[in-house]
Amino acid sequence: MDKIAPNLTGVPETMLWTLHNRAGEALREDGLLHDPKLVEIYRALDYDYEASFGEARPSHASRAVVFDNELRAFLNAHPDGVIVNLGEGLETHRFRIADSGEALWITVDLPESIAIRERFIEPDERHRHVALSALDRRWFDEVPPGRAVFITAQGLFMYLPPEETASLLRDMAQRFPKARLLFDHVPRWLSKATLKGRRLTPNFTIPPMPWGIDRSEIEPTLRSWAATETVESFDYRFYRGWRGLLFGWLSRFAFWRERMPAITRVTFG
Ligand SMILES: C[S@@+](CC[C@H](N)C(=O)[O-])C[C@H]1O[C@@H](n2cnc3c(N)ncnc32)[C@H](O)[C@@H]1O
Repeated sequence: MDKIAPNLTGVPETMLWTLHNRAGEALREDGLLHDPKLVEIYRALDYDYEASFGEARPSHASRAVVFDNELRAFLNAHPDGVIVNLGEGLETHRFRIADSGEALWITVDLPESIAIRERFIEPDERHRHVALSALDRRWFDEVPPGRAVFITAQGLFMYLPPEETASLLRDMAQRFPKARLLFDHVPRWLSKATLKGRRLTPNFTIPPMPWGIDRSEIEPTLRSWAATETVESFDYRFYRGWRGLLFGWLSRFAFWRERMPAITRVTFG
């Protein structure tokens, strides 16, 4: 079969970085993820992942595991719940998570990203694709009223201007009271480094991440942005080899934990 050239640049291209890192785990016997659909997409793309992103690392797979677990818990509690994945790219949560057949999954991503997703994943009544920016509130209308809502933003908010994210969160909280939101964030030092042009490899510069926030700032910041009932942050590190040992050890110290990427779960008030 002919391979498919993704032809992505800028932030949409980063979906190939996270795909690469998840695939690194999905291809291992003892991998963190079991996901044949992910492997199918990974192999079908005509893209030199190692040249751009280097050797696959488990970071994004371990992040995906946290998101999967949260989604499973949500669906156990709300079998007919609505899941909105903002900036979903080539994520394949829905192939890893069995649902009752009543849930509604909505992917919101930029048109060029939806186009490549649809080369592999067809939308249907229960799995909708919305080709819009997450900042375009028209996607709100895709969410049927009266159902529990879980919104995820995996690898997205760091790429958006923080004032835009603040306003989106405020509007989501108003429109979807009691909804859950799960997203990850990067610390200030990493955001600053990307604004200066941080290279991942000689062939790939990480797109600017204008929003960086340290761990202890998250709760007060979110509470000032939107009506929130709960705000909880947690780690998602899982590195193999020496990185696993080093980062695991460093995370025991508040100084380093403060400066590491993390995941936050919010319940809107
Ligand atoms: C790092 S990738 C993450 C993809 C996926 N969530 C994952 O974890 O593999 C960033 C994603 O954000 C999407 N994106 C960038 N700007 C966006 C916007 N304004 N609205 C919605 N999605 C956006 C990109 O198209 C891409 O799919």
